[in-house]
Amino acid sequence: MKLIRSIEELRAQLRGQNRTAFVPTMGNLHEGHLSLIRLARQHGDPVVTSIFVNPLQFGPGEDFERYPRTLEADLEKLQKENVYVVFAPTERDLYPQAQEYRVQPPGGLGDMLEGEFRPGFFQGVCTVVMKLLLCAQPRVTVFGKKDYQQLMIVREMCKQFAMPTDVIAGETIRDIDGLALSSRNRFLTPEQRVEAPTLHRLLHSVREDILSGRQDIQRIERRVFSTLVDRGWKPDYISVRKQADLRFPTEPDVVEQKLVVLAAARLGSTRLIDNIEI
Ligand code: PAJ
Repeated sequence: MKLIRSIEELRAQLRGQNRTAFVPTMGNLHEGHLSLIRLARQHGDPVVTSIFVNPLQFGPGEDFERYPRTLEADLEKLQKENVYVVFAPTERDLYPQAQEYRVQPPGGLGDMLEGEFRPGFFQGVCTVVMKLLLCAQPRVTVFGKKDYQQLMIVREMCKQFAMPTDVIAGETIRDIDGLALSSRNRFLTPEQRVEAPTLHRLLHSVREDILSGRQDIQRIERRVFSTLVDRGWKPDYISVRKQADLRFPTEPDVVEQKLVVLAAARLGSTRLIDNIEI
């Protein structure tokens, strides 16, 4: 396994490779990330992972400074997964000048849900993903459904720019109590860690309600929202959307059930997001 810092070195190392499978991350790797690496291996060779905590996607007052950086432990995990190259540029390596050109996702998709509560987030994600893809030039790129809207926005970006990579989606990996694995879970206190799976449980109950034929979606959403508030959470959104475009479902969509319920909520100072397909 090679640890590479500079774009030039990465290009040199991957020259001539035309089946590269790429998994971009911000590090602090857990089983969710590793599952994407295993999925990548099924779709290409060599497998390349990036580790870069991208300042462009953190808003003022967000957790860029305290985002966990655990390179040594990450490299150990990646070594065990037989990753070929780990691209871990410094900020200077990836952004030698101020990154003034940015990739702006369309308002419809980029400004709702996460985009509403984290202005500029998806512009930062699209810009870094575009740049990483231009550096690694992978045949396939793997993203997790955990960040459902991110997956959709990146997929659409690759399509609209005719980028020569296939975007592949990996399922969300959870702890045994249902909590979706996330680098931010480590900020939870022991008490909050016990409470945290409630988010997944409630999403699951929304799914059950809809599968049982209920169509009063807004009432279901309001119930979950106020349950979270009652339990001490600060929810940003709980929203049932269409899987295809994340727009609000109409009645036929609810019956057809190609839906997804997405949520973001703060527990103490930790913001958790999750979703389940219906
Ligand atoms: P990060 O949060 O490190 O996530 C890297 C990838 O792992 C993303 O595709 C994310 O959806 C996936 N992932 C996270 N938790 C997961 C889980 N429990 N199960 C399955 N997959 C999971 O997402 C980012 O980094 C950044 O925005 C990035 C795309 C790297 C751009 O900076």
